[in-house]
Amino acid sequence: MSMSLRVVVPPHPLIGHWLTLLRDQDTPPALFATAMAELGRWLTYEALRDWLPHRAMRVQTPLAETDGHVVDGAVPLLAVPILRAGLGLWQGAQAVVPTARVAHVGLRRDEHSGEASWYLDQLPETIGERVGVLVFDPMVATAGSLTQVLERLEAKGVSGQRVRVISALAATPGLRKLGEQFPDLTLYAACIDAELDGSFRIVPGLGDAGDRLYGTQSPHYLG
Ligand code: PRP
Repeated sequence: MSMSLRVVVPPHPLIGHWLTLLRDQDTPPALFATAMAELGRWLTYEALRDWLPHRAMRVQTPLAETDGHVVDGAVPLLAVPILRAGLGLWQGAQAVVPTARVAHVGLRRDEHSGEASWYLDQLPETIGERVGVLVFDPMVATAGSLTQVLERLEAKGVSGQRVRVISALAATPGLRKLGEQFPDLTLYAACIDAELDGSFRIVPGLGDAGDRLYGTQSPHYLG
């Protein structure tokens, strides 16, 4: 069976709306956070459509018995927000999968080399074979950060259809790299941008998601 990276960009006016607010350089941090959370919510909703385990049951309404379906709570979900900015997506997604267990991971990208390095890893030591994993990474630029998280999950036996990635924006170079290493991965994004600039930033992109989300800037001067 041939496998290739599946990138889903749901065609929906709300997704376009919230992405445009993220892109707008005049969007203040509070509204930026709202837009990121809304994308997290709706992209996760889409990602669960054919993936969330559910089971049939009979239900008694006040008038009659009929067929129903409920989410199968026996199948555990793990949410993995990549700090910092992945928290912005997860904040909205949490309303959709409120019972998911959460494991934060923290990676920081060096602005000169573009290399991501770890500063937090709360992934469970062992992840059961039934667990489905949602990874939240707001931007896939070089895909260096996401690749490192997927490699650690793979080392714990989690890969392929058991993983879904939620991302506000993905760039073609990063997707190409992901496709080579994880050909059976599925990723949901609001848009695909074609390019990176010389500093590994997505163009046109939306700037630095973490800084815009939290209103942080250069640590060197405030005054
Ligand atoms: C940014 C962004 C992604 C990553 C994308 O995080 O939020 O996680 O870079 O780049 P990549 O695909 O080239 O790895 P950053 O390291 O700036 O951390 P932050 O979320 O704390 O701002």
